[in-house]
Amino acid sequence: MTSLKTTKNGSALAVIVTGGARGIGHAFAQRLAQDGFHVVIVDTVGAEHSAEQLVHEGFSAKGYTANVTQASDWDGLLQDIVVSGQTLHGLVNNAALFASLEMQNFEQVTRDEWMQVMEVNTYGPFLGTQKVAPLLAAHGGGAIVNIASTSPLKGVTGMPHYVCSKGAVIAMTRTLARELGDRGIRVNAVAPGFTLSEGILLNKEHVEKFRDIGKNARALKRDQLPQDLQGAVSFLMGLDSAFMTGQTLVVDGGAYFV
Ligand SMILES: NC(=O)c1ccc[n+]([C@@H]2O[C@H](COP(=O)([O-])OP(=O)(O)OC[C@H]3O[C@@H](n4cnc5c(N)ncnc54)[C@H](O)[C@@H]3O)[C@@H](O)[C@H]2O)c1
Repeated sequence: MTSLKTTKNGSALAVIVTGGARGIGHAFAQRLAQDGFHVVIVDTVGAEHSAEQLVHEGFSAKGYTANVTQASDWDGLLQDIVVSGQTLHGLVNNAALFASLEMQNFEQVTRDEWMQVMEVNTYGPFLGTQKVAPLLAAHGGGAIVNIASTSPLKGVTGMPHYVCSKGAVIAMTRTLARELGDRGIRVNAVAPGFTLSEGILLNKEHVEKFRDIGKNARALKRDQLPQDLQGAVSFLMGLDSAFMTGQTLVVDGGAYFV
């Protein structure tokens, strides 16, 4: 097993994964723990359980029940990281409303639904970045990885609020990369194709609409799984990508070519 990454002073390097309780987020948490980070899982449901699973597997992790749109939730957990003597290295902005959304004609989307999706999917990562940036900068920098989607690149129909929110995540990645570059903070994104996550498998409508279309559109004709995304996040969080920022890596089996 990889040993825990530490600073020169022996302080554990921590990475936060939002929405890390299940599915794709849990896969990221698992991979970053394998990479040697202390993993902080943030989720509205199941964060502690997800972290306990990693600890049970021999890794270093802690879970916090927190909402990414609430400033006080961020303040509480970041304070805890500082008090615990850990050094924050990175943030994966993965939490979003997606798997539970119903397919809708664009005329049916209400203002409340639009605002709710935008709040979690765009304000959540923005607020998280605002909150972690001073801690990252205090240690000379760090890495932020935003989880976007290929849906805004392709113009997928049936979820206009979601698709627009993920387009905004790509735009946010670019502007915040420039805002934060001189503090040593890199901001990149990963854009997954349709992925059979735990949440998606609970939503039959999504599976029926996208599974076969997704598979057939790929150069690599098979289902996309959460594990397929782990390597890209690990790479963007690590030093091998030290001179990359503002980029969006498409990981979709070769359906959309940038
Ligand atoms: N599954 C796919 O096909 C697919 C494709 C492209 C992009 N993505 C993106 O990948 C990420 C993960 O997708 P998934 O399929 O695992 O989704 P999911 O819905 O199963 O998981 C999202 C997680 O975020 C948490 N969450 C939601 N709102 C939150 C909030 N306000 N604060 C904290 N946590 C919150 C949920 O509890 C859940 O654990 C999302 O950003 C999604 O948009 C997924």
